[in-house]
Parts: sequence; C-alpha cells; structure tokens
Amino acid sequence: MTPAPRTVAVGGDTPYTIHIGTGLLADGALLARHVRGRHVLLLSDSQVAPLYLAGVKAALLAARPDLLIGELVLPAGEASKTLANFGAAISALAALGATRDACVLALGGGVAGDLAGFAAACWMRGVDVVQLPTSLLAMVDSSVGGKTAVDIPEGKNLVGAFHPPRAVIADTAALRTLPPRELRAGLAEVIKYGAIGDPLFFQWLQAEHAALLAGDDTALAQAIARSCEYKADIVARDPLEKGERALLNLGHTFGHAIETEQGYGAPGNDNLNHGEAVAVGMVLAARLSARLGMSSDADTEQLRALLLRYQLPVAIPAGLAAQALLGRMRLDKKNLAGRLRLVLWRGIGHAEVVADVDEAEVLQVLAAG
Ligand code: GLY
Repeated sequence: MTPAPRTVAVGGDTPYTIHIGTGLLADGALLARHVRGRHVLLLSDSQVAPLYLAGVKAALLAARPDLLIGELVLPAGEASKTLANFGAAISALAALGATRDACVLALGGGVAGDLAGFAAACWMRGVDVVQLPTSLLAMVDSSVGGKTAVDIPEGKNLVGAFHPPRAVIADTAALRTLPPRELRAGLAEVIKYGAIGDPLFFQWLQAEHAALLAGDDTALAQAIARSCEYKADIVARDPLEKGERALLNLGHTFGHAIETEQGYGAPGNDNLNHGEAVAVGMVLAARLSARLGMSSDADTEQLRALLLRYQLPVAIPAGLAAQALLGRMRLDKKNLAGRLRLVLWRGIGHAEVVADVDEAEVLQVLAAG
C-alpha cells in the first residue's frame, strides 16, 4: 500500500515545509508553488538526471509555462562537490540571466543538494533553493537544515554557508531506483538519530531492519518522517549550530576524516561513501566514549550490532593511518582554539558534545581501527 503524503514543518526564523510522499516529483503545482520568479536552475547529476530531470521540467512547465529553466548536470559522486563546479553553477545562473527571485532546484543526493544550496546562497547574495532529494541520505539529513558546502582537498564541507531551503520535496518513489548500497548509507544516518537521542526509535530500527533493507514504502516513509521531525526540532532551535545542532554530527568527525583521507570517491570505486563513513565513525565515537568512561562496551556493541544488521561497515578501511586520520580531524569545523571537540555519547539515545578531547585517546581508538 502506498503511504499517504506527510509534511513536517521546520520552525524558527526561516520556516519551511518538508513534503514527503510518493510521486511528488510529478506534482507540477507543488513544485511551482515554491518558485517565486521566472528563472529556475535545475541542478542534478549524471545518475539522477536521466531518470527524473525531464519529468520535473515538464511538470513545472505544465504548471508555469512562463518559466525559463536552465539545466546543469554534473558527474555523479562526491568528487563533483568542488569549487570548480560551484563556479559552473554560478556561470549557469549568469547565463540564465537569473534575478534575485530566481530558484535553484537541487535534484539528487547530498552532492547536488549541497552544491546547489551553496550556489543559491551566493548568487546575488542569496536566492531561493528548493531541495528535491532523491537519495535516502539526502531525504533524512542533507536536504534539511540549510547546511550547504563544497569540499576542498584539505577537508569535506570546509567552504560553505548556512542557507535554509524554501521547501524540501522528497519523492519516496525515487528510492525504488536507488542502488541498495546507497539505501544502506542513508539508513546509517537514520540510525544516527536513534543513537543521538531516541532510544525508542533505535529499538524500532532493530525490529524493522528487514522491511527497511527491502525498501518497504511504509517503513521507509516512517523512518524518513521520524528523522526529519527529529532534525527539524533541533535546527529550529539552533539553525547555525551554536549548540545542540552539533549532536547531529555523531560519527561525522571520524567519518569526514576517513572520507578526506581516502580521497573523495566517484561511483564504482571501493571508497566508503558518506553514510558508510558515518557508520564507522559512530562506532569509533562509541569506543572513545567507553575509553573515557562515559559509556559501556555493551553500548558500543549494541550500536555495532545494529549497523552490522544493516550491512554497514564498522571498521576503518585498511591502509588509512591513524596519525593521518587524526591530522584530518584537527580541521573539523566543531573544533575551537585548536582543540578537538567531538560528539560522544553516554549510551544509546544520549549524545553530548565533549570539548578538549585528549588526542592520545583518540589516536588509540583510531589505531585499534
Ligand atoms: N548533518 C548535520 C547537520 O545538518 O547539522
């Protein structure tokens, strides 16, 4: 049975709605409702565009025949999230003659969303972006909350801006064409919400793993809605990550270090993708928490067991040196005054930010893998 469409409201100073439902990419009226002016840049990637770009464009034009729609399709994969492609998006907006009421539509996963959002944040000092996430990871995390960025060789997401979307439209039918590995990567971010602050959701994820891995529409819609509600509450209270929003980065400091150290991957290589790196990072954060006496080894084991049940990696890939990973962690955005600040936990559902973490302890955890 197809689940009924849902909405999640994101409050705060720049409120917007997250629409979650099947077939929403074909809903021209819904798409057009969020386009204020005449200029639209549709930014997508080489895997997603052949599946959905023409349909989105046709639906929009049917609702708003006056629109001028430009397109920019980038190679799929994290390796596209560069300053050079940010420049390409800016050039595409210039070629379109986009004015201040223009709208960038981010059609794809986290890479398209982050890049499109950053271009929208910068063009004429800020135009609208509407996020049309097609991956689970983008639906439950990156499309919500206004973080936009590109990567540089020195680190992931180091250049960017906070720029909340005008709306998020998540068409869950797109998950049917998502490669299983990408689905699992998104489920790592879903598990993160349970691990940070919702033990009951963690238990639900333990029970529902077969349905979620099989791509069951109803289970996925529930997981997406719960994740978005959780994130929406936090970003409404702390949009610029001055406090509790940092908790959403459980596993990310370790994970980003792994991603940066292995080099940003293109599809088809053996590098961990973002969700996989976060899965490993959460286990490392749990191990470090146990070393520091904040949690037990049994807590770590519960998390590790759940990630394994979702067929996610739980160990640092071979060939990455502990010292090199620690070096990458020193450039994390949460750090202050040159000291490591990490999200750790006191067990399932109880994450917290810990300042001034001893690097020697971190190194021990990294060395143990
Ligand atoms: N992905 C974490 C955040 O949006 O804050």
